[in-house]
Amino acid sequence: MKYQIACIPGDGIGPEIIEEAKKVLNKIGEKFGHEFIYTELLMGGVSIDKYGEPLTKETLEAARKSDAVLLGAVGGRVGEDSWYKLPPHLRPEAGLLAIRKGLSLFANLRPAYLYPELKNACPLKESIAEQGFDMIVVRELTGGLYFGKRETKEIDGVMTAVDTLTYNENEIRRIVKKAFDIAMKRRKKVTSVDKANVLDSSRLWRKIAAEVAEEYPEVELSDMLVDNCAMQLVKDPAQFDVILTENMFGDILSDEASMVTGSIGMLASASLSEGKFGLYEPSHGAAPDIAGQNIANPIATILSAAMMLRYSFDLDREADAVEQAVAQVLKDGIRTVDIMSQDISQRRMTQVTCSEMGDSICDRL
Ligand code: IPM
Ligand code: MG
Repeated sequence: MKYQIACIPGDGIGPEIIEEAKKVLNKIGEKFGHEFIYTELLMGGVSIDKYGEPLTKETLEAARKSDAVLLGAVGGRVGEDSWYKLPPHLRPEAGLLAIRKGLSLFANLRPAYLYPELKNACPLKESIAEQGFDMIVVRELTGGLYFGKRETKEIDGVMTAVDTLTYNENEIRRIVKKAFDIAMKRRKKVTSVDKANVLDSSRLWRKIAAEVAEEYPEVELSDMLVDNCAMQLVKDPAQFDVILTENMFGDILSDEASMVTGSIGMLASASLSEGKFGLYEPSHGAAPDIAGQNIANPIATILSAAMMLRYSFDLDREADAVEQAVAQVLKDGIRTVDIMSQDISQRRMTQVTCSEMGDSICDRL
């Protein structure tokens, strides 16, 4: 089969890590008889520099025409010619929000998994890390506070800012269903996170979640308040399988979930629309401080490409192969600098560059 992939390297370490993901995809193509065709697109700071805006209509259209999008990272440049001196709608992150909305990528999947080889990196107590954890945050991505009406104006001489949190039942239902579908392929447990003791939008969320749960008798649903969830994530992360939540809570909790793995350079993500289309990107950012040095960890991007194989192309075998090759590389003690000193055993490890990590994974495919 032929697959059209829109590649958006973006800023900072984006181009380096995307290169390695393409290397791995090409190896998969060779081995399993697929052809991946890439169209390179500009988004974020590089697009601002060239076109004066972070996401052009043409880029959005080209992305829409592809079978899936692979994204590196956007943003980062500060200082004299900082992109952050621009008005908010022209900054790199605005491109990210615009592509999410423009492609209706309403379901953001962020797995947080504690690799046995990297348990030392877990910032939690050993007794907690010992148990390991494997969860996925399913975050609503095109509604809520991020996309509600906002303004800042003077009312009776007082500066006042308003952000609006809106969800309708259809927006809630589709993301709840997505979470339950994912739970069916995992340990069949959904924790729906909200602030139903305060917010109307959360009370509606809870009601719809309960309705959808009736269609999935095998899945266990529990509701949890967001403040409690923040605590539980550091107290007992092993309790979670699928965490389902709205946009803003999901932004915060997914960072917390990834932090407790201690290896954010390893975490993939997928943003899916209705049907098979999706955008895949590492959970980490553009890391401008190490850009261009060939030392970034490409694993999160490579695992994002694996998610693309699985969710957009239905290539489960191929996705498994990539994930196994990554696990093998870790077992073999091969490390980029960010995960170098995190092995629990006393074995000697080999420090490699970004491109060498890509090669090492290809070698194990
Ligand atoms: C993320 C990021 C974005 C978000 C920012 C960069 C707008 O934090 O993908 O989690 O808040 O969604
Ligand atoms: Mg975030």
